[in-house]
Amino acid sequence: MYQIAQLNWTDSYETIVVGIGAADAIDEGLDALFNGRVKTLIQSGDISTKTGEVTVLPTFAGETTRILFVGLGQRNDITTENVRNWFGKVAKQMKTRGLKDVAVALHTFTDGAARMFTEAYEMATYEHPTYKSAPKEAVEEPTITLLGDVDQTDIDTGVAYGKGVNVARTLTMMPANILTAETLADYAVELAKRHDFKYRILEKEEMEGLGMGALLAVNQGSTIPPKLIVLEYRGAEEEAPIAVVGKGVTFDTGGYSIKPKDGIVGMKGDMGGAATVLGLFETLGLTRPKRNVIGVIGATDNMISGDAFKPDDVITAMNGKTIEVLNTDAEGRLVLADAVTFAKTYEPTAIIDVATLTGGVLVALGTDVTGCLTNDDTLYRSLETASRETNELVWQMPYFDVFIDKVRKSEVADLNNSPGRFGHMIFGGAFVGEFVGDTPWLHLDIAGTSERAAANDLGPKGPTGVMVRTLARMIESWER
Ligand code: BES
Ligand code: ZN
Ligand code: ZN
Repeated sequence: MYQIAQLNWTDSYETIVVGIGAADAIDEGLDALFNGRVKTLIQSGDISTKTGEVTVLPTFAGETTRILFVGLGQRNDITTENVRNWFGKVAKQMKTRGLKDVAVALHTFTDGAARMFTEAYEMATYEHPTYKSAPKEAVEEPTITLLGDVDQTDIDTGVAYGKGVNVARTLTMMPANILTAETLADYAVELAKRHDFKYRILEKEEMEGLGMGALLAVNQGSTIPPKLIVLEYRGAEEEAPIAVVGKGVTFDTGGYSIKPKDGIVGMKGDMGGAATVLGLFETLGLTRPKRNVIGVIGATDNMISGDAFKPDDVITAMNGKTIEVLNTDAEGRLVLADAVTFAKTYEPTAIIDVATLTGGVLVALGTDVTGCLTNDDTLYRSLETASRETNELVWQMPYFDVFIDKVRKSEVADLNNSPGRFGHMIFGGAFVGEFVGDTPWLHLDIAGTSERAAANDLGPKGPTGVMVRTLARMIESWER
């Protein structure tokens, strides 16, 4: 689908994509395709140089049929974020216009544009699979020629990042009658085999043997057994791994602390953290960075039955800590507790947990910013750096002792799973922190960011695959 070539304005393409800024000198070769009229067309407003505005014009001369101009605005508008979004817009236009032979004049945008283009193209042209009975017409992939001194690795890396995101999106979109703990584990095994990863699926009996009383309590009301999914990516010899732990609640009814009827719709997406982990492993499998990464997913649904766990229950987690259950809807932290404890058996250098954990993060930070907690500023800074490059925004919330104290407050147990409404995003993270100990740790609450209510330049509405690219980027540039 991708080709590399040097730019030659007289070559024949169906469309060439060109960035055009307000202050730019007009390239002679480009100008020749319009009989020297590009400047006039800009002045008359027939070509827009406004940021992100797309103008498509047929050429007056040469072999290429048309030019798709992307307005670059002023020089300081040319940011990584904008360029990626513009390419997303271009990709969507290619799809709607049915363009099949497109060349991209990369140098008219910015350095490193090849990687940005392929990443944006993968993400922007993605459509969620549906279960509609009428089959979808297959569309032919276009030929995309990247013009300039392009490295094949850049193309492949962009594609790998986009594909990882799309894996997470697809899984998050799947309904809970189809994506159960069992089928999620099957998917993980298939992914592991495809990329030659070591994997392990722990069954309920093994979890009982390990004393995973927290995860098992959440599963108690279910007819579907839980799974603890472990993937091992090895890109380095003797090096402690980074552990990425995902909440894989395939459906969250709230349990006996049941959700209201409006709040329950969409809870198929409560395995968004698990989806991020699997999306990340897809990217790792394709990019093969020189690092070691362990992925751990606690998978179960949170259901109601005569067997289900209840408020007031006291349960014992794998690390021996006892927990007073005050709210069965605060189940994600229980699942993460045992998943984190299990991840620690690999003696990781860092633990990163990813979860659709609280409605509180939505109230605090809205739908575009992932809420974080950390016990390690250096680790947080590397997340921040990566997130600036991917434009997946993150914000650190306070991990003060006052929150930890409240998580530890119980007359009957070591911890309680729901200290109250005020600050509850932080309580969720602080609870997980009780199982992390001293290992450098990042908690990513993606309840606000894992789905979006409207499409944007980089994809449809619905699951976003958030944090796949940021974590991949962080691992790619990891300092030992
Ligand atoms: N899965 C939810 C969090 C959630 C809310 C995800 C909205 C996506 C959108 C989580 O298990 C939950 O129910 N959290 C409770 C915690 C409370 C009981 C302390 C919440 O946020 O209300
Ligand atoms: Zn819940
Ligand atoms: Zn949940």
